[in-house]
Amino acid sequence: MTNNKILSGFSRLTKDEKIEMVAGRFGNTGEIIRELKSYLHYDPEKQRLFDEFSENTISNFYFPFAIAPNFLINDKMYMVPMVIEESSVVAAASNGAKYWATKGGFKARVISTTKVGQVHFIWQGEVEKLQALFPMLKDDLISKTKHITANMETRGGGILDIELVDMTDEMENYFQLKASFDTRNAMGANFINSCLEEFAVILKDHFAKIEYYTGQEKTCCVIMSIMSNYTPECLVKTEVECSVDCLKHAEDVTDPDSFVRKFEKAVRIAQIDPYRATTHNKGIFNGIDAVALATGNDFRAIEACGHAYAARDGRYRGLTDVDISNDKFKYSLTIPLSLGTVGGLTSLHPLAKFSMQLLGNPSAVELMMIAASVGLANNFGAIKSLVTRGIQVGHMKMHLLNILNSIKVNEKEKDFAVAHFANQKVSYHSVNKFVTDLRKEHIEKVG
Ligand code: MEV
Repeated sequence: MTNNKILSGFSRLTKDEKIEMVAGRFGNTGEIIRELKSYLHYDPEKQRLFDEFSENTISNFYFPFAIAPNFLINDKMYMVPMVIEESSVVAAASNGAKYWATKGGFKARVISTTKVGQVHFIWQGEVEKLQALFPMLKDDLISKTKHITANMETRGGGILDIELVDMTDEMENYFQLKASFDTRNAMGANFINSCLEEFAVILKDHFAKIEYYTGQEKTCCVIMSIMSNYTPECLVKTEVECSVDCLKHAEDVTDPDSFVRKFEKAVRIAQIDPYRATTHNKGIFNGIDAVALATGNDFRAIEACGHAYAARDGRYRGLTDVDISNDKFKYSLTIPLSLGTVGGLTSLHPLAKFSMQLLGNPSAVELMMIAASVGLANNFGAIKSLVTRGIQVGHMKMHLLNILNSIKVNEKEKDFAVAHFANQKVSYHSVNKFVTDLRKEHIEKVG
């Protein structure tokens, strides 16, 4: 299998040629070709669409498209689509949604929707000169990008502000144009990056054409123009609330007072200890990423932003907050979520489009509230399990089917195994042994 030869022209091969070339690295080439092709869509038109989402596509990689029903958010009920391979995540979200729906549901609000982009440049000159002319430059930046911003402005968005940031304390001659944008229902990466690249041209022109600058001040070196995925001002807060006593109805909670005390400590630990905070936040992103994927949003951008936000005061912390006072349990999540409901994959991917329809074609603001609520539901479920019965019982039960599928059981064996493990500890070893014994027993019976 090890082959260090550099391949040239792979992208120019046809799909069949690519499949053959990849499969040719295995002894069982024919089998691999059949396997890869078995996951291609039978309708060539539809397959072409999937092919073009990426490059060098040789097959499709299936993930389950699942539904978490009963999400009551701001008095509106949603069935939430989730794309995720971790078996217990949809179950945890669904359980959390159902539980909180009986307690008034999630109350969510979007605090702000501002996105950010930067032109990073090196300029050797008198800062005061640049600062003095910046108002004129800013007017130019805004007026000379009208051809890009006009459409967005008719939708109520556009450039909100542009600042000149002096970064020379951090790096010699380093400045930024830091622009803020409102991109309405679009995630906005293309819009922002187009504006920024135009800003870079206008900026260079500014130094070159204005006589006030002399010598080396007449040129600047634009290092890069790019949106920032850190959007701390594209922020949503969602919360749930009930009386402490009400929690006795939650699964696995026997004594609500001791439960909330442990729950509070668990949340505080995530705010103190980065090791725990990372796992705590991972549990939040289990839900958020699954919604992001199902709706065709960029989960990498969302995660990167969330983790940067979690470290905003210099220490990486858990993103949720708990308040237990006056016999009330309040649990909230405040998180930056730059989501889009138009453009990109949201309308191109047939299932992302379906997700949007299922959610009632939400605005980006509404989708922020939905995704955050799912994140909170997942995290609530995780902390509840952790401080009560632990997560492995539930996880391994859900994992049982994955193990059974991996050892290729038939339907009858699956039924036997599910019945057997209803009251038994699940591990790969125990399931494998159970199936092996079952098969032995069967062979002995039938001779
Ligand atoms: C597993 O995917 C997520 C959890 O580890 C989250 C947590 O520990 O809070 C259960």
